[in-house]
Amino acid sequence: MSETNVRELMERTSHKRIHNDCDFTRKNYYLVCGFHLEIGVCPLSTLGFGTTVWDAALALCQYFETEGITFPDKKVIELGAGTGILSILVALLGGDVTITDQPTLLRQIERNVSFNIPSSFKSRVKVCALSWGRDHTLFPSDYDYILGSDIIYSFDAIPLILQTLLHLSNENTVVYFASRMDYAQTVGYGYMIMSQYFKTELVCRYKVKDINVYKMVRKTPTPGDLIE
Ligand SMILES: C[S@@+](CC[C@H](N)C(=O)[O-])C[C@H]1O[C@@H](n2cnc3c(N)ncnc32)[C@H](O)[C@@H]1O
Repeated sequence: MSETNVRELMERTSHKRIHNDCDFTRKNYYLVCGFHLEIGVCPLSTLGFGTTVWDAALALCQYFETEGITFPDKKVIELGAGTGILSILVALLGGDVTITDQPTLLRQIERNVSFNIPSSFKSRVKVCALSWGRDHTLFPSDYDYILGSDIIYSFDAIPLILQTLLHLSNENTVVYFASRMDYAQTVGYGYMIMSQYFKTELVCRYKVKDINVYKMVRKTPTPGDLIE
């Protein structure tokens, strides 16, 4: 088994991806927070960007490891989870996690949950469809944490993500987002909009990967209710 230590991955300027998107049975292996994660990817191009483990997801995993952040009995939701790697780690770190993405990605996520989450932890993990700005009202507003990696890359999606965040959060919710800054204009605009509603702090920057990790907490009072 070839295994990639996430810490080393985040420190290198480039790495050879060990996965092969053409074979659903091929998996990537990652070591993070002491857990050996086995992440499969589905080959179908119709599934779009969700069939890769993006570096921003690894950046958040590494950030949680470096900062010693754990999630004992915390209620967590991830938006646009892709392969589910980040939520899987968070569940292993004690979180009660709802992993969401578009309906086509759910099977891939469910398979990765089954590879990595022991049966005694399975009740802590839900996998659900949540299309931003459309399904958010089906979910509660009392999450302790909301997570997202590499989900701010399209101008059109920014108001939908904001609407979703405002519904899912309250003043106690902590949002962690990681973004690769390649699409500087879109990403910068996205966080500028978010910062009107959330106190937004750059808590970590992985310079070699050009990835920023942001922590956001709702401003009070917030005009959020106006756009739900
Ligand atoms: C670049 S991928 C990032 C995947 C994963 N978070 C990671 O970092 O490896 C963007 C993810 O956002 C999801 N996504 C895109 N548009 C969406 C929408 N309107 N509603 C929900 N999820 C969406 C995609 O399906 C994909 O999984």
